[in-house]
Amino acid sequence: MEILETTQSMKAWRQRFYGSAGFVPTMGYLHEGHLELVRHSCKDNEKTIASIFVNPTQFGPKDDFTAYPRDPGRDCAMLEKEGVDAVFIPGAEEMYPPGFGAWIEAGKITERLEGASRPGHFRGVATVCNKLFNIVEPHKAYFGQKDAQQVVVIKKMVSDLNMNLKIIVVPTVREPDGLAMSSRNTYLSPAEREAAVALWKSLSLAKKLWEEGERRAEYLRGEMTSLIQKEPLATIDYVGIADVSTLEELEKLDRPVVVSLAVKIGKTRLIDNLIIGQ
Ligand code: PAJ
Repeated sequence: MEILETTQSMKAWRQRFYGSAGFVPTMGYLHEGHLELVRHSCKDNEKTIASIFVNPTQFGPKDDFTAYPRDPGRDCAMLEKEGVDAVFIPGAEEMYPPGFGAWIEAGKITERLEGASRPGHFRGVATVCNKLFNIVEPHKAYFGQKDAQQVVVIKKMVSDLNMNLKIIVVPTVREPDGLAMSSRNTYLSPAEREAAVALWKSLSLAKKLWEEGERRAEYLRGEMTSLIQKEPLATIDYVGIADVSTLEELEKLDRPVVVSLAVKIGKTRLIDNLIIGQ
């Protein structure tokens, strides 16, 4: 497996072959969720390229950029074991040299849910993904359903800007108790780890109520909120019930919806979602 640290070396490696190329962008500190994307890519493509870059522009001033867990050595060993062909690990100055100034704005969908809580987050995500796509030139790029709004934003960018690649979405990988795998789970103390299952419990409750015929979004939000509020270590940021493609909040569940939530468990902010009605 090749490890490439500069844009120039990544591009040179890429230009050496013509077969199908799959790409898995990550911020590292890999877990089974990331590896599932890698496995899909290795199965679908002749070559798989992964990237590890903790992208500073998608973190707000109060976010955990400095504290974000990093272990590129361990990550590379995991990627090599999965059969990845090349890993791109650029430094911040490689991606954002002095004078950098072109940004991708993906419109209204970036202002809702995560975008409302984290202004500028999706501008950073879209911009770095656009740069990575231009450097790696994949035919397919793999993203997790875990970050539902990220998927919508990236697909919108690819479609609006006529980009030549296909976005493949992989289902969320969960711990046995339902907690979505996340690099941020490492911040949780044992008590917080137990409390964190409240996110999955509330999503499962929404699904159960929907299956029983409940269609009022406000009622579902209320039930999910009360369930989470029973957990003393949890503080809700938002509970959203939105149209799967526009992410507009709905009153009635009369079409496929993405039920999503952001909850702080102690100091750690976790997100999760479930699509229902599809
Ligand atoms: P990161 O949080 O490292 O996630 C990289 C990819 O792994 C994303 O597509 C994410 O949705 C997926 N992923 C994370 N946890 C998952 C899980 N439990 N099941 C399935 N997939 C999971 O998302 C980012 O990095 C960044 O925003 C990035 C796209 C790399 C741009 O900087």
